[in-house]
Amino acid sequence: MCGIIGYVGEKPAAPILIDSLKKLEYRGYDSAGICILNDSLKTYKTTGKIADLESILPEGIEGTIGIGHTRWATHGKPNTINSHPHLSGDVAVVHNGIIENYLRLKEKLIGDGYTFKSDTDTEVIAHLLHSHLYGGSDSQSKKCDLMTAVQKTLPSLEGSYAIAVLCGSEPGLMVVARKDSPLVIGIGNGEIFAASDVTAFLKHTKDVVFVDDNEVASIRGGSVEFFDADGNPVTKETTKIEWDIEAAEKAGYEHFMLKEIHEQASSVHDTFAGKISEMEGTIILDELNMSDEQIRHMTRIEIIACGTSWNAGLVGKYLFEQLAGIHTDVDTGSEFRYGYPVVCGEVLTIAITQSGETADTLAAVRGARSYGCQAIAITNVVGSTITREIDSVLYTRAGPEIGVAATKSFTTQLITLYLLALKFARIRGKISAEDSKNLLVALKKIPADIQKILNKKAVIQECARQFADAEDYFFIGRHLNYPIALEGALKLKEISYIHAEGYAAGELKHGPLALLTDKTPVVAIATKGHTYDKMLSNIKEVKARDAIVIAVANKDDTEIEKYVDVVLRIPETHDLLSPILSSVVLQLLAYYTALERGCSIDKPRNLAKSVTVE
Ligand code: G6P
Repeated sequence: MCGIIGYVGEKPAAPILIDSLKKLEYRGYDSAGICILNDSLKTYKTTGKIADLESILPEGIEGTIGIGHTRWATHGKPNTINSHPHLSGDVAVVHNGIIENYLRLKEKLIGDGYTFKSDTDTEVIAHLLHSHLYGGSDSQSKKCDLMTAVQKTLPSLEGSYAIAVLCGSEPGLMVVARKDSPLVIGIGNGEIFAASDVTAFLKHTKDVVFVDDNEVASIRGGSVEFFDADGNPVTKETTKIEWDIEAAEKAGYEHFMLKEIHEQASSVHDTFAGKISEMEGTIILDELNMSDEQIRHMTRIEIIACGTSWNAGLVGKYLFEQLAGIHTDVDTGSEFRYGYPVVCGEVLTIAITQSGETADTLAAVRGARSYGCQAIAITNVVGSTITREIDSVLYTRAGPEIGVAATKSFTTQLITLYLLALKFARIRGKISAEDSKNLLVALKKIPADIQKILNKKAVIQECARQFADAEDYFFIGRHLNYPIALEGALKLKEISYIHAEGYAAGELKHGPLALLTDKTPVVAIATKGHTYDKMLSNIKEVKARDAIVIAVANKDDTEIEKYVDVVLRIPETHDLLSPILSSVVLQLLAYYTALERGCSIDKPRNLAKSVTVE
C-alpha cells in the first residue's frame, strides 16, 4: 500500500505535497519523493519518512504543480532509487498499486532501448508513457500529447494502479488514472488535488469527486475533465465530505479495526497478485532464496511466531503436511527460545511476524539460525528487524495495520502460507498440476468471497448483539479450522474482554464440556471438508448440554440448520481455503460484540500492537 498526491494550483506545490504526504504516511512510510513541474521537472526522493524528505528539500522550490508519493515497498527494496516519482526523459509518474505483468513489459522496453534504473514495477509505466509520447528512447520529437500517451499506455497494464503523471513539455497539466486502487479528486478554489484518499487534502477542500475504475482525468488550472477508457468525456458528481480529519483517516469507519477488516478483499488480492500462474498451477516467489534441490531435501519445517501469527502458523502446519508432505512443528517464540530444540537434517525455519519486531520471535529465530537452519520470514513491515537477519523475506501486502487486533495481517499471512505450501508441494511432486490449478482458481476468487461476507455483515452484527452479555464463549473446529477457532477466541477476548477459549472440537469431552450452560455460546466452525460429519457430532454433544451453538457453515449447507441456533454463512469455496473466509466472519463477530459492549476496540486495555520486550 502506498499513497499518492498531486497538486495543480496557484500556490507553491512543494509544501502542500509534503503536508499531504504526512497525512498519507499511514499508507506506507519506507521512502518518499516529490516532483515539481516549473520550467522543467525537479525531483527529490529519499528513504525514510516524510520528515526525512522534507529535510532534504531546498528552500523556496518554485512551481505550482507537482506530484508526490509515500512508499510501502512491494517490488524492490526501500531505497532512494526505487522510491517514486519514476522518470523517463521528461515524464514523471507516481503510482499506487501493482503492475502484475511488469516483467514482460520491462523485457520489451529494454529490447526497445530503454534503460531501467530501479527494480520497481512502476518504472515500466514511465517508459511506456515516454515511448508513446516520443516513439522511442532516443527520440526528442513528440508524437502525441500526454493525455493520448496515458490512454495508449493503460490498456497494456495488468494489475492495479492509481497514477499521477507530469510531462516537462506540457507545463500546467497533470493526468491521473485509476484501476483497482483508490483515487479521489479534491476541488478547491483555483486549485485541484488528486490523492489516494481524502485525508491528504481535507484541510484545503471538502468537495471531492471519486474517480472510478478505468477513468482518466486531465487537470489544468482550476479545473478537471474526466474521460472513460475509450476517451469519451464523463460527467461526474461532486460529493461533500462531512468527515473531520480523524474520521477521514478511518475512511469513515468507526474504528481502524473495521476499516482493516474491510480492506482484506484488496490486501489478500495484493498478497497473491503476480505470484501465481493459474495456467500452469505454479507459484512464483522470486524472493525465496532456496533452490528446488533444497526444497526437495527439506526434512522438517519449524514455524516460530507469537499471538495471531502463531495461529496462522498452525494453519501453515496443516498445509505443509497435507499439501507438501513435510513434517511441521509450530512453536511460540517464547517457548522455542528456552527449549532444547532437536534441529537436525535439513530443517527450514519460518518466522511469522506482522511487525517483524516481536522480541520473542526474533530471539527464537536467532537461536534456530545458530543451529545452521535456513530461515524465511513472513512479515508485513519492510525493513523491520527480522528482514535484516534472515535468508529470505516474503512480504504480506496488508499495508499498515493500526488496530491492535490483527485482522488483515492474519489473512495475508494465511495467503502467503498457501502460496509457500503449494510451491513446495509442486516442487516435491506432491500435488498434480490439475489439483494445484483448481486451488489457484479458488484462491483468485477469495477477494470476491470476502466482499460477499462483508456485504452481509448485518447478520453477524445481529448475532453479536444477541450474545454480547455472555460471560464465556467457546470456539471449536477440527483440522484447518482448529487454529481458526483459536484465532476467533483470541479476537473476541482481546477486544470484548469476554472470556473465550478455542478448542480442537474432539477435545471438548476432555474437560470443557463441564463448563457449558444454557448461557454459553459455542461457535462451531463446521465448513465442508473431511471432518464435517465429526463436527456435526460435536455440535450435538454441545446441544445435549443446552449450550447455544453458532455455526460457521457453507452457503448451501441446509443440514446444519437442524442442529444449531444461528448459522453464519461463508460462500462456497475450495475446502482448503475456507479458513480464510471463516476468519473474516469471526473478526466481525468479535468486532460487533466489542462494539455492543462499548469497548476500546482499536486500543484494548493492557495490549500493544508490537511487543518488543520479552
Ligand atoms: C501482539 C499483538 C498481536 C500479535 C502479536 C505478535 O501481541 O497484539 O496482534 O499477533 O503481538 O506480533 P507479530 O508482529 O510478531 O505478528
